[in-house]
Amino acid sequence: MQKTLKSHGTWIGKWTFVLAATGSAVGLGNIWGFPYKAGTEGGGAFVLIYLLCIVLIGLPIMLSEILIGRRSGNSPINSMKKSAIDSDVSSAWQGVGWIGISAGILILSFYSVIAGICLKYIFVSASSNDLDTAGQFLSIVNSPKELMLWHTIFMGLTMFIVSAGVKKGIGRMVKILMPMLGLLLIFMVVYGIINGAFKEALSFLFKPDFTKITSDTFLVAMGQAFFSLSLGMGSIMAYGAYMSKDQNIASTSVSVGALDTLVAIMAGLAVFPIIFAIQGLEASRGPGLVFISLQTAFNTMDFGNIIGPIFFILLSVAALSSSISILEPGVAYLAEERYFSRTKSAIIISITCWLIGIGTAFGFDQDGNNFFQANVELISVNIMQPLGGMLIAIFIGWFMKESLIKNELGSINQAIYQIWRVFIKFVAPIGVGIVLISQLF
Ligand code: PFF
Repeated sequence: MQKTLKSHGTWIGKWTFVLAATGSAVGLGNIWGFPYKAGTEGGGAFVLIYLLCIVLIGLPIMLSEILIGRRSGNSPINSMKKSAIDSDVSSAWQGVGWIGISAGILILSFYSVIAGICLKYIFVSASSNDLDTAGQFLSIVNSPKELMLWHTIFMGLTMFIVSAGVKKGIGRMVKILMPMLGLLLIFMVVYGIINGAFKEALSFLFKPDFTKITSDTFLVAMGQAFFSLSLGMGSIMAYGAYMSKDQNIASTSVSVGALDTLVAIMAGLAVFPIIFAIQGLEASRGPGLVFISLQTAFNTMDFGNIIGPIFFILLSVAALSSSISILEPGVAYLAEERYFSRTKSAIIISITCWLIGIGTAFGFDQDGNNFFQANVELISVNIMQPLGGMLIAIFIGWFMKESLIKNELGSINQAIYQIWRVFIKFVAPIGVGIVLISQLF
């Protein structure tokens, strides 16, 4: 590479990478998405397939992304390019970074609108006792002005943190946000144990009913695993670039994957005991689960006007620690190439996301469906993310020089290394490929 790329620095402290990567992974996908998908896909059987996707496909790809990122220390585009050039293969592999950054911009456009609804619900659940929670939800999503206000606030917060840089912005924020998130979540689960129908929630999430599995269950579980672990679009690769060389990549990947899964399950154990404690609330509500069913529960139960806001603060904090990781890869690229300063880069990409987000904010119909958002999500989450993940697996499994890989992994247990090689060469690309092809048809 002829020109020297601007450095972004490294995380301060041993745990910052784990906090930041867990912050990226834990988000709306865990606390809003996982419970509602477990609800619509039939509970325990879905959870089991989801766990298999995390272990067999998610973790091997996560390790690969961290490895490629840390080896080069640059944004995903330049990290892929450098690894390809050093492996004597075409620098066109940098296209994987471009797919990732484009997917990120699309994802953040609607992620910010949904996160904005969470912010709004902090106030709704604190003050409203409207029993028609479905009507209330529909009137909120059918008010583009309201959605635009919260979308703008959320996007502004994200931009502000990312523009402050790796150490002073993202690194410092995750040290505040993640402990806060942990405490709020523990509080919600303990509340569920004491006051909710905890036993029913446990059996719903852990007793698999295999009659409920369809080919769709696999698609949903795999998409959810990719989205939840933030894979295939450069966030984890970008964060890996700021990781110090003395940290163990394999054990760190396992920690992040385990924490993400733990939070998803804890979110289920926070949401379902409250839902099941109230007669007549259904677990299979779909995307409206937390805004409609759970809000009904908050309206009916003691101290709901306090527990409700706590839950929605939890959701908003989780969303913010994820959204900064979605913005970072593109910002890192523009800044390291010295096209713009970090602040200007953050403003440019945030405005792009904000503009595309207008489509989502204005896209809800009378029934709460959103054609625009559904298609942006289909392209980014269901096609581009798995495609990016599959290409990363193929690159590291078949094209990257093994000496470079071994060098970066340092002293790794040989058995673990061989297992990872098999998974990254065969299991991950074939598994993702099958799901991708079945999405398309
Ligand atoms: N993992 C986040 C969640 O579960 O909400 C969403 C996400 C973050 C997706 C970062 C993709 C990404 F790169």
